Amino acid sequence: MKMNRLEKLFIRSPLRAFVLRKFEAPRVLTNLNLASGGVCLEVGCGIGVGTLLINKYLDCERVVGVDVDPDMVASARRYLSHLPGWAKGIRHDNIEIVSEDASRLSFPDGHFDAAFHFAVLDHIPEWAEVIAETYRVLKPGGTYAFEEFLLSPGFQGRWGHVSFAERDIRAALEKSGFAIESFETARRLPRCFVRAKKKGLNNDVRAG
Ligand SMILES: C[S@@+](CC[C@H](N)C(=O)[O-])C[C@H]1O[C@@H](n2cnc3c(N)ncnc32)[C@H](O)[C@@H]1O
Repeated sequence: MKMNRLEKLFIRSPLRAFVLRKFEAPRVLTNLNLASGGVCLEVGCGIGVGTLLINKYLDCERVVGVDVDPDMVASARRYLSHLPGWAKGIRHDNIEIVSEDASRLSFPDGHFDAAFHFAVLDHIPEWAEVIAETYRVLKPGGTYAFEEFLLSPGFQGRWGHVSFAERDIRAALEKSGFAIESFETARRLPRCFVRAKKKGLNNDVRAG
């Protein structure tokens, strides 16, 4: 689902980049124990701030950011070709931004070592299919980490966002075959930080 003009204004703002950098990315992207040289996916990459932060925290061979909105894809490519001051020194030559619907990705099965997203699922009515599709494109043992809003149905009605509760996300992850490693909810804001693994590598994942 494409964002409205007001939402795009916010997503393109330095304030959004600041919140991602200072509060969300450190929580999603640290202590993942990922091997160096992996191929990483960011779903719903917006203007590409997350793709840079993936490179800041992880040693990736390649980072692919996908977004369904060609307007955001163009913004991301512009953003990455004129890096803001905070991103100077962060690798960006290995980032590719593509226009794709995350519920129907063109990548083959088992293509990525890790997948991430920030504040995306409430924009996608078929969000559970995004989780299933992410499972498909991850390698066995692949890491899935994200931050999402847990919106009340009242908010959804007013703003046209999709609402889901913790139990809905847990059910979709488990139905797809993910083993949930952690599911934390923020203390003050209706947000969750989730880590899961695609089962299948030496049975080294525990059900959460
Ligand atoms: C609220 S923005 C978040 C952008 C960025 N992750 C951030 O945190 O700043 C949600 C993004 O998801 C994208 N999006 C919505 N539906 C999508 C879909 N089906 N597939 C891929 N991207 C989608 C939107 O175009 C938008 O860029």
